[in-house]
Amino acid sequence: MGVGKLTPGVGPRSPFIIQKQPVKSQQNRKKIDSPDVLMSQTPRFGQKTYFYKPLLKFAGNGPSKYGSPQAVFQTIGEASQFIEAHRQSLGLPGALPSQQNALTPLELSCSTSNLFYKREDLTATHAYKVRGAFFCMTKALAAGYKDFLTVSTGNHALGVLKAAEILHPHQVQIVVPEDTQARKLEKITAQIEKLQGMRIQASLVRHGKNFDEAKQWALTQSKTAPEEYFLDPYNDPWVVAGQGTIGLELYHQLQPILKEQAIQEITVIAPVGGGGLLSGLSTGLSMAVHQDPSLKDLKLHFLGLKLANLNSPLGDAIRVGQIPPENQQLLDHFGAKIQKISDDEIQEGYQGAFQDLKTPVEYASGATHFPVEHVAFCQPSPQRLVVCIISGGNASHT
Ligand SMILES: Cc1ncc(COP(=O)(O)O)c(C=O)c1O
Repeated sequence: MGVGKLTPGVGPRSPFIIQKQPVKSQQNRKKIDSPDVLMSQTPRFGQKTYFYKPLLKFAGNGPSKYGSPQAVFQTIGEASQFIEAHRQSLGLPGALPSQQNALTPLELSCSTSNLFYKREDLTATHAYKVRGAFFCMTKALAAGYKDFLTVSTGNHALGVLKAAEILHPHQVQIVVPEDTQARKLEKITAQIEKLQGMRIQASLVRHGKNFDEAKQWALTQSKTAPEEYFLDPYNDPWVVAGQGTIGLELYHQLQPILKEQAIQEITVIAPVGGGGLLSGLSTGLSMAVHQDPSLKDLKLHFLGLKLANLNSPLGDAIRVGQIPPENQQLLDHFGAKIQKISDDEIQEGYQGAFQDLKTPVEYASGATHFPVEHVAFCQPSPQRLVVCIISGGNASHT
């Protein structure tokens, strides 16, 4: 991993805005044109009392800010209850872990002590994306939306379509770029046919040379259909909260080990596209640890891997240009570092993960093994647990 590629991720603590509930209906969404935070200052009994009203401004795809880390954590708690209630449909039969509150297993390395893999390739759609998609669609349906539009490199589309199979919205439109992997396209098409058989209007459009172009186009479409919910793959508080359930699960799954061993640090490594996965999971794990007095001395590290080459033939799942500011705020707040990874490094990481897991996973997911061998704070030791997030298993080679 080349020196100089490390982007310092730890920034100033962000002044998060307190948020209670997103606006409930589409009517509200259209009318609102208010500042990001509506804060009224009402003197009471000689004191100044600040009332924080819910964040009302919508930027076409949900609240424009996610709210405080505490608010995001609360939403993660809510998401985890919904996911837990649908564990049988969202998990992979045969792979569902016996521990409560976990959709996917946390697997110990065959070769290295204190190295773990969070097997998100073992969800019903073979990627963690189903978490955020399912929770977001649940919330948006409750808020009155019936039609959904989304854009994806593949895994998020599969998550949205699985959510539709369970939740039965009126319509789901999927946009994918032209460079979407054949295997993912096949799975999307099969799932669309299944939904059509269930009388749910589902369709697929391929548009744009790459993900960023496809997203730009989908957002333009979304502006002409304000009654549709644009289910953003990473820049939506409900999606981020859904992905954050991974952090909460890790907290519960690591508990027995933390009780048995004198662990001082945990490092979590994840692939990053738009940063929904890492911002959600770093919030979920950090806040859970922070609220546990028995873990007050435990240090947490988060490392996100972003493509050095945005046209990488290997990292199709994470070919996303920018991390949006709301996700970056959370990453900064929880001290997550972002490091660029080259194709050779992805390949090497993938081989390491493959030898250990004995199963092919997506290259972007296997890449999380690379820092285990090369970055000091990512090396497992008697004092340090390391978790690689195996985020998906849907690539053409799997
Ligand atoms: C397998 C896999 N890993 C990681 C990511 C990156 O997720 P995010 O955009 O939330 O950073 C994606 C995104 O599609 C993915 O499919």
